[in-house]
Amino acid sequence: MKKTDNQMLVIFGASGDLTARKLIPALFNLYVAKQLPKNFVVLGASRSDLTDDEFRKRVVYKSPYLASKIEDLKGNYLKGFTDMLFYEDLGGDYTAEYKGLSERISKINEEKGTDNNYMFYFSTPPSLYEPIAKNLADVGLNNQEKGWKRLIVEKPFGYSLETAQNLNRGLQQYFKEPQIYRIDHYLGKETVQNLLVTRFSNSIFEPLWNRNYIHHVEITNAESVGVEKRGGYYDKSGALRDMFQNHLLQIVSLVVMEPPIGDQPEEIRNEKVKALKSLRIMQDEQTLFDNTIRAQYVASEINGKKVKGYREEDGVDSNSTTETYAAIKFFVDNWRWHGVPFYVRTAKRMPTKVTEVIIHFKTPHHQIFKDSGVNSKDNKLIIRIQPDEGVLIKFGVKVPGQGFKVERANLDFYYSSLAQTYVMEAYERLLLDAMQGDATLYARADEVEAAWEFVDPILDYWKNGKDVRMYGYAAGVWGPENADELIDELGYWRNPGQNLADDPGYCVIC
Ligand code: BG6
Repeated sequence: MKKTDNQMLVIFGASGDLTARKLIPALFNLYVAKQLPKNFVVLGASRSDLTDDEFRKRVVYKSPYLASKIEDLKGNYLKGFTDMLFYEDLGGDYTAEYKGLSERISKINEEKGTDNNYMFYFSTPPSLYEPIAKNLADVGLNNQEKGWKRLIVEKPFGYSLETAQNLNRGLQQYFKEPQIYRIDHYLGKETVQNLLVTRFSNSIFEPLWNRNYIHHVEITNAESVGVEKRGGYYDKSGALRDMFQNHLLQIVSLVVMEPPIGDQPEEIRNEKVKALKSLRIMQDEQTLFDNTIRAQYVASEINGKKVKGYREEDGVDSNSTTETYAAIKFFVDNWRWHGVPFYVRTAKRMPTKVTEVIIHFKTPHHQIFKDSGVNSKDNKLIIRIQPDEGVLIKFGVKVPGQGFKVERANLDFYYSSLAQTYVMEAYERLLLDAMQGDATLYARADEVEAAWEFVDPILDYWKNGKDVRMYGYAAGVWGPENADELIDELGYWRNPGQNLADDPGYCVIC
């Protein structure tokens, strides 16, 4: 097991939702799993006026996100965890100077022995990232002479290529790139990491992983929920910025990348950047028109319950042109992938919540069983990111009886069958990695910029394009009908069900 240094985690925006919903539960799991270092402290910092005890109540004792985990725990055991939590009120403003914060950090560091190792977690609006970094630097909290100093930065990382570049430059004025950890929680998912293992630890897949054998690649990310309480944020973002630029392009980079030399963070990240840089950037209006589809959900009834349309959601402009559905077809300009189309879609208010990668293999070069129906039964490798996590291979088998009728059969693996294995939550894994200084699962500056470089022209076209359209789809269906046009020559999208082995068309409305 890797060593975790004694350290202090300072969370900016600690009174916000992410801290209670994700960060504290992740830290609690690490506490239960005895993964925290001997001396460990969390210092919450934000503009709310809270005492240490009030903070502990809010994020632990009264937290709905920990309720089921802590109900049977003995008081002392839980106190062991809450005693690690402290809170500092930053006053009215994140941008006011941090003398008070710095003194508090030094005092706690002395008392708790956190060895001057500080991790700063930015869970604030992105406009505050650079001012916070500057303020930390002004009081010397970027200096690594005594103890390391690291930043974890939440998404969204930029709003466009230009804003991402500015943000990178802004942060790099005060912290060096190896000190900056840009979080993408999809990289914390076991099944996303398993893409690397599937490809590079098996000799049966990688030889086929190229244009000679792969017909097309399909990636679906669907959520059944709408924008929930985040209408204000989402309306300025949309599906392409919220999911595609980060989570889905991270998945794409793992599918597309060349084998790295080894498993060191920089080796893997170098290959991911190369992969992202090889995505063919769509420039002209016709290409953008033909290869991108955006849509918005409209009011509907799901299971007899009325569901609001996107424009009726709280915080959303009633004339909004923000997409809640995005489907993009693109090509990868390199030797391996020449001519192989990629189809990637993401949306809210779909029939079910599911994320999967489907590798569609070509039909056999020479077909012996021509009349057997094998044509439409190409081999598929389905890597299920969530839920019902696993891997499924579809292959042809002979139907018993005379002649050679071929049917498609399933070969499947489910993570749930690894009953003894504890699967860490994404934030748990990512926090522990950063605490140990392992940046493999964090996005590097050039990676983020390469992703924006691909996405920017699409956003620009959707905003200013002449013939650009916004389709509607009823909440609870698989997007607008026109989305099939994108994938037309190939047939259909695989509309997956809740279970990995469900066949397309199976529909769960939940
Ligand atoms: C977040 C997006 O990054 O990912 C949300 O901002 C989205 O809009 C969420 O709901 C999905 O994450 P997961 O892990 O539930 O697939």
